[in-house]
Amino acid sequence: MLSMAAKKFGLKCKIFMGAKDIKRQRPNVEAIKKNGAKIVPVTTGSQTLVDAVSECMRYWVSNCDTAHMCVGSTVGPNIFIKICAWSTAQISRELIKQVKEEFGRIPDKLKLINCVGGGSSAAGFWNEFMDTNAEFIGVEAGGPKNSNLHAAPLTNGSKIGILHGAAQYVIQDKEGQIGSTESISAGLDYPGISPLHCFLKDAKRAKYTSASDEEALKAYQLVSKLENISPSLEPSHAFAEAIKLAPKLKSSEVIIVNSCGDSLKDKDIIQRKLGSYAR
Ligand SMILES: Cc1ncc(COP(=O)(O)O)c(C=O)c1O
Repeated sequence: MLSMAAKKFGLKCKIFMGAKDIKRQRPNVEAIKKNGAKIVPVTTGSQTLVDAVSECMRYWVSNCDTAHMCVGSTVGPNIFIKICAWSTAQISRELIKQVKEEFGRIPDKLKLINCVGGGSSAAGFWNEFMDTNAEFIGVEAGGPKNSNLHAAPLTNGSKIGILHGAAQYVIQDKEGQIGSTESISAGLDYPGISPLHCFLKDAKRAKYTSASDEEALKAYQLVSKLENISPSLEPSHAFAEAIKLAPKLKSSEVIIVNSCGDSLKDKDIIQRKLGSYAR
């Protein structure tokens, strides 16, 4: 999105991306390059999202006379969270209209399920429903089934720490050093979570759970087979929760899942894990 916007307005654009993510999100890298943006590989730390955000912030503070920083999630210092959440809220501005058209009103029992990495798509998906009875369910990345590593600070009781200029629940060691994460989904593979979601959890306005890599892959398979969509691995985590919940619900209850990304960017991972990828 950012590279497209930069191209439209004739601006130079650098995208900081972890070296591991450059490899596992190859189609995204190709699209960014096609738009004329420069990819800056980040080779520090785990070479994923968390390191890319750190490196981007370092670049920005050293070049703030000539550069703006854009953050693709509701993370970082306060104003970046606000800019991002306001932008992503467009989805719920449209969704609330569609829900009213479809059901004549907002259903009494409505669950809005969204995956949560930094938390931007969930914040946007829920925004217009904040003052309604809608139940919010955020699904973090539980990581591989047989591993202690995950990217689910809220589900696993992580303590408050500081990451990227904001206090938040964050995976950390006893000394407060940021801990390692693991997830099949590059977009959810982040040790922290937006302060916005920390607040929604503490206020009990939203519930948070996690889905494992394996559950997300299974959900991807099922949804791609039965629905006319092909979700990326991030929303596949949300679909995994919907698949767990749906059999327990009455027919009057409504679930809406935000299929917030397309599987094309994950085709290499899906091909490797499932043996085939077809759209
Ligand atoms: C398709 C998609 N969905 C969700 C996310 C997770 O981000 P957030 O938690 O900010 O919504 C990402 C992050 O890159 C993504 O690419």
